[in-house]
Amino acid sequence: GRGPALSDYILAIDQGTTSSRAIIFDRAGQMVSTGQKEHRQIFPQPGWVEHDAVEIWDNVREVIGNALARANLTRHNIAAVGITNQRETTVVWDRNTGKPVYNAIVWQDVRTQPICDALAADGGADRFKAATGLPLSPYFAGTKLKWILDNVEGARTKADAGDLLFGTTDSWVLWNLTGGTDGGVHVTDVTNASRTLFMDLKTLAWDQSILEAFGVPASLLPEIKSSAEVYGTVHGSQLLRHVPVAGILGDQQAATFGQAAFDAGDAKNTYGTGCFVIVNTGSDIVESANGLLTTVAYKIGDGAPCYALEGSIAVAGSLVQWLRDNLGIIGSAAEVEELASSVPDSGGAYFVPAFSGLFAPYWRADARGALVGLTRFVTKAHIARAALEATAFQTREVLEAVNADAAVPLAELKVDGGMVANDALMQFQADILGVPVIRPKVAETTALGAAYAAGLATGFWQDLAELRSNWAEDRRWKPQLDSSERDRQLRLWKKAVTRTFDWVD
Ligand code: G3P
Repeated sequence: GRGPALSDYILAIDQGTTSSRAIIFDRAGQMVSTGQKEHRQIFPQPGWVEHDAVEIWDNVREVIGNALARANLTRHNIAAVGITNQRETTVVWDRNTGKPVYNAIVWQDVRTQPICDALAADGGADRFKAATGLPLSPYFAGTKLKWILDNVEGARTKADAGDLLFGTTDSWVLWNLTGGTDGGVHVTDVTNASRTLFMDLKTLAWDQSILEAFGVPASLLPEIKSSAEVYGTVHGSQLLRHVPVAGILGDQQAATFGQAAFDAGDAKNTYGTGCFVIVNTGSDIVESANGLLTTVAYKIGDGAPCYALEGSIAVAGSLVQWLRDNLGIIGSAAEVEELASSVPDSGGAYFVPAFSGLFAPYWRADARGALVGLTRFVTKAHIARAALEATAFQTREVLEAVNADAAVPLAELKVDGGMVANDALMQFQADILGVPVIRPKVAETTALGAAYAAGLATGFWQDLAELRSNWAEDRRWKPQLDSSERDRQLRLWKKAVTRTFDWVD
């Protein structure tokens, strides 16, 4: 056979909530090698979640080196770089020094609820929804940027002088990759911009009237570009020097793209730190009547934008981390499956992990977590099981919202992300949904989606049809639970959810 030709690979950077990864893909969309490193989760107060953006950038460089070394490749083998990222997490840094003025405020952080309340006093929580697709919620980046300007000493003055830059972590990584203080490119893509509360979904431009309402100077904001085009090249001082950076997609949109869900009606659910259902709505901007967000799915170069409805669930895999780190009932995340499978059910316990309030379909920032239905019968195994089941119940509620908004109900659900390796959870998911759950061969769809965008922009791949032909089914779980038992459990789950409301005074 032929050895690897030059530039036969794409490298994707996945800057996630829990870790940063670099994954190298070949032309068939197969993973060739990976590097991964977790960063610290910083919890200064209840409800606050921060990351150190400098640590994240250091990790990104390290994992790029590791992925290249493991595959025995150099920059000459890499045709392009794509970036995907935890969305909404907000970094503000000084363009002259390259230093962040504050820790990154993470998407799960709820400190900005008072900012949302103040803005909602004039026009309600949905006052920007027609333009942006989003309700006022601490989830979105704009509220976090405003908090930094209002609360970090000297930030407002520096911002007014034009010295500060804002970005979600895609922009932070891109700016640093392309040279930082030495010519770094300050850009984001339409999918990330659609999570700020500042971008108009129709024009795909920053909305001046919203910026004024927030009191945020436009000079901080990155330029909005498509999800697949050459934004710049890696700076000469770095491992991947001169390689074009040619794709950016927020991680949930990237997973949608990696699942080849390119057409209206296509859907996926990603089980990561949180859990996010995305349904492609094509060229239509659909407003949800049932608590879903309207968002941009992708835009390829000069092509027309593709839109989506999204059901966002704040806590999924992070609940397993919490069992490990905060309760200590498992030694590693992987142990949760064994512990949960040692009992046939949750023993009557229901765990509603409203750690960041509740996202879709409730949008209740006043909710906090609850573990209910406890008796002396309940063991740590039941709690582990209830924690896993919470993800399946929440997905069911989001799918109910999707079906209420859509003309045609979903007949099956394509899944991906770390937790889909968990067989018991996937079976329970199919049981609670009542439709089949399908896992593709490449479950790393998030990184794959970013690689696809970068590869399309540089001619490495020709078109969407070529990408679609890479998709292959790995496994399918069919519903087995009888419907009366399913309905009983759902009823109890929904009752448990109501117990989390009104917890913040
Ligand atoms: O909106 C937040 C989302 O982008 C985070 O994704 O994969 O880190 O749960 P993940």
